[in-house]
Amino acid sequence: MLKEPVKEAPQVRWLIRISEVFAGMEEDIFRGLDAAFIKRLGRGYSLIRIGDPARLHASAAAKFVRWNLPVHHSWPCCPRDIPGFIEKAAQALWRKFGGDHPQTVLCGPLDPDRSNRYYKTLAANLRGRTLQLFPPECGAIRDVGAQDSRVPTLFCLVGKEGLFCGLQSPAAANGFHPGGTKYIRQSAPGTISRAGAKIAEALHQLQLDRSPPPAGSHWLELGASPGGMTAELLARGYRVTAVDRAAPAKMLDNAQGLQFVLVDAATYLPRKGTVYDAILSDMSGDALASMTRVIRLSEYLRVGGLVVFTLKLPGVATYAGVNDVEAAVVATAAAAGLRVLARTHLTYNRYEFTVFFEREASN
Ligand SMILES: C[S@@+](CC[C@H](N)C(=O)[O-])C[C@H]1O[C@@H](n2cnc3c(N)ncnc32)[C@H](O)[C@@H]1O
Repeated sequence: MLKEPVKEAPQVRWLIRISEVFAGMEEDIFRGLDAAFIKRLGRGYSLIRIGDPARLHASAAAKFVRWNLPVHHSWPCCPRDIPGFIEKAAQALWRKFGGDHPQTVLCGPLDPDRSNRYYKTLAANLRGRTLQLFPPECGAIRDVGAQDSRVPTLFCLVGKEGLFCGLQSPAAANGFHPGGTKYIRQSAPGTISRAGAKIAEALHQLQLDRSPPPAGSHWLELGASPGGMTAELLARGYRVTAVDRAAPAKMLDNAQGLQFVLVDAATYLPRKGTVYDAILSDMSGDALASMTRVIRLSEYLRVGGLVVFTLKLPGVATYAGVNDVEAAVVATAAAAGLRVLARTHLTYNRYEFTVFFEREASN
């Protein structure tokens, strides 16, 4: 989906990030983007040339691109070996981008592995020094979620291969953070399952396109057990009707705002007059079968209501196979009045995608 016009000249190189889970499909992905691979950088990043940057948003291959950035400035070097690297890099950024008035400057490491602290610290220090040179408004954005998703940010990625920077809005880059990763602690006390991090990240990502439903909204959650996502939704002040064939974690016994229904989603029938604000589906099994269950229940979703759908890929091993499943799910949803808002591979997605839909007004 094209989120906004992409005006960069075709000769600009692009930094794209493909999640490691799809590493085996990279050649197909580059072909699908009509892109020429130049070289690998950091972990999961590739430098490419692409004839039509719109393909990063509007092609079947686009969903495999976790995050993207036009490289408007690069300094290929080994930063560890350059005396005064931060000062020289910050001055160059100010000279080159000071007149472009980015909303803020964000720097991150090309290798996000948490054991590799050097470049994470270097990125943080580079941001700190660069912001001293840019107008104070740039530094006023402390939380990345406070960015306007449609206004260009100066994103900078740094690693042992050098510094790669570009101006791009978070919506066009497909994430608020440099590289797209939002770190979410998964082992906090009270964490029921890893899926909790997935919905937390999904709701953060959603803000690129629209606001999440306000607190108090009513969610129908399909495939809820053991309840990691349920707990996240409840913690945000939502009411949740959670459906699963399997029982929830004990921790959710008597949770306020929760109604858990132990039933197959294929047969669940909401009470007459029920209106949901959002549907979340994390059901295991065939994605098209899951979408069919969502569609049956979308009759109870208000117009403009949100669907957060985990598109799982059991038994689908090829690039073409993944595209076929996604196309079938999206077409079936569209025929039922569910329009795709965004689709992405989140940090906390495994071999699956997260697709956001909105219920359209029926004719
Ligand atoms: C990956 S788990 C969900 C994890 C959960 N979202 C969490 O946050 O902990 C998938 C769940 O889908 C449920 N499921 C699959 N098909 C279902 C169906 N037709 N009706 C109800 N639940 C279903 C399974 O029982 C399983 O609990």
